[in-house]
Amino acid sequence: MAVIILLGAQWGDEGKGKITDHLTRDAAVVARWNGGDNAGHTVVWGGQTFKFHLLPSGILYEHATCIIGSGVVVNPKTLLGELDNLKARGLPTARLIISGGAHLIMPYHIALDGASESSRGERKIGTTKRGIGPTYADKAWRAGIRAVEMLDLDHFARRVREQAESRNIWLTQVYGQEPLDVPAIVEEYTEYARRLAPMVGDASLVINEAIAAGKTVLCEGAQGTLLDLDHGTYPFVTSSSPIAGGACVGLGFGPKLVDEIIGVAKAYTTRVGAGPMPTELHDAVGDHLVEVGHEYGTTTGRRRRAGWLDLVILRYAARINGLTQFAMTKLDVLTGLDPVRVCVAYEYRGQRLEHFPMDSRVLEECRPIYEDLPGWDEDISAAQRLEELPAAARRYVQRVEELTGVPVTMISVGPAREQLIWRRPAH
Ligand code: GDP
Ligand code: IMO
Ligand code: MG
Repeated sequence: MAVIILLGAQWGDEGKGKITDHLTRDAAVVARWNGGDNAGHTVVWGGQTFKFHLLPSGILYEHATCIIGSGVVVNPKTLLGELDNLKARGLPTARLIISGGAHLIMPYHIALDGASESSRGERKIGTTKRGIGPTYADKAWRAGIRAVEMLDLDHFARRVREQAESRNIWLTQVYGQEPLDVPAIVEEYTEYARRLAPMVGDASLVINEAIAAGKTVLCEGAQGTLLDLDHGTYPFVTSSSPIAGGACVGLGFGPKLVDEIIGVAKAYTTRVGAGPMPTELHDAVGDHLVEVGHEYGTTTGRRRRAGWLDLVILRYAARINGLTQFAMTKLDVLTGLDPVRVCVAYEYRGQRLEHFPMDSRVLEECRPIYEDLPGWDEDISAAQRLEELPAAARRYVQRVEELTGVPVTMISVGPAREQLIWRRPAH
């Protein structure tokens, strides 16, 4: 019985969905605390592939209460689409609670995201164009519309009209775009509100009561540590807090209640979107990682940038999040590469850097310092225990533990639910 925070230790897409799905077996509550439908979490189960953007990846288990916390930004259309899709596939949608404090992504946020990216030209972030940044900006600006406002439809319609009219001024006068059709938005979103209102609740209360009753609460992060607004590679970040501290803020429980903090990390590194990435490869090994690892975005279909595992990043993630464990995914993708390399430090203008730099412009100039480890050729995708891995693969995992000081308790060797080596219970 425990409170577990599970988060991305790199730039997102680490395989959080798969690990969340696995751990939900023992959880009473599964809760998303940050981000929106910029996330794309894949769960492979019973020969079927599910891609979730807003629903917590634990939704496939009937026993779990699923929560969308106050720190999440909700696109109502996406959420209803995901629920309808599950129902159409004959799957039960576990009890879902949308926190009243969650902010809604509106069409003008999506339009502003696109317009802002276009206006940045070469300096663009490479966002998912889901309206994430403008929705969090409105939240910080105290101009956002929260889920709880859907409970009073007249009030809701008035707020939507006011905000849409106000943001139309930006769209037309700042970005020179066509205005959005305000009455159509009011009508469409009032209908969404009608459908979603019964799911709106007090997520913090539900979570704290579950904890008090000794149940296991699993908090599922979206994105990853290096996309964190405060601690990531700013400005090439998302607009929320994917780090462990964000779970308490986004869900409404105290930090002393947390038992385990699991950082999910790929056995190599990927990134989608712009910004520095020291271990990025533009060679045959990079192509191997992308093709064998199917590194194409779950949300946008973009080819992900790929490179060797960066332990400077994992040490940073361990520090920022207070990680108690790593779950290492996609170890199978390294099969056939020899040597396998891990970045142990950076070289910056002739100096050796041991710590992740705060300035993205410094990171841009950092060159990786590698340690080479022997590779392996054996197919590891059916391994169920550590002893079944070739010695070189075990050595690789062990080296990550030595150089980060964090135990690797789970090793994923394929996309399916059962392709996981679990070295000791997470709690
Ligand atoms: P998330 O955003 O962190 O949940 O990760 P994504 O779902 O965006 O991307 C991870 C991808 O890797 C998905 O296609 C998963 O099905 C797949 N995956 C997860 N774990 C493994 C693994 O151990 N091996 C392989 N080959 N694929 C994996
Ligand atoms: P999951 O949860 C990988 C990236 C975008 C872009 C930056 C800002 O699947 O790991 P945004 O649309 O959030 O304003 O874009 O963040 N990004 C992700 N990259 N995985 C994700 O989510 C991401 N969510 C956002 O590519 O670089
Ligand atoms: Mg993803």
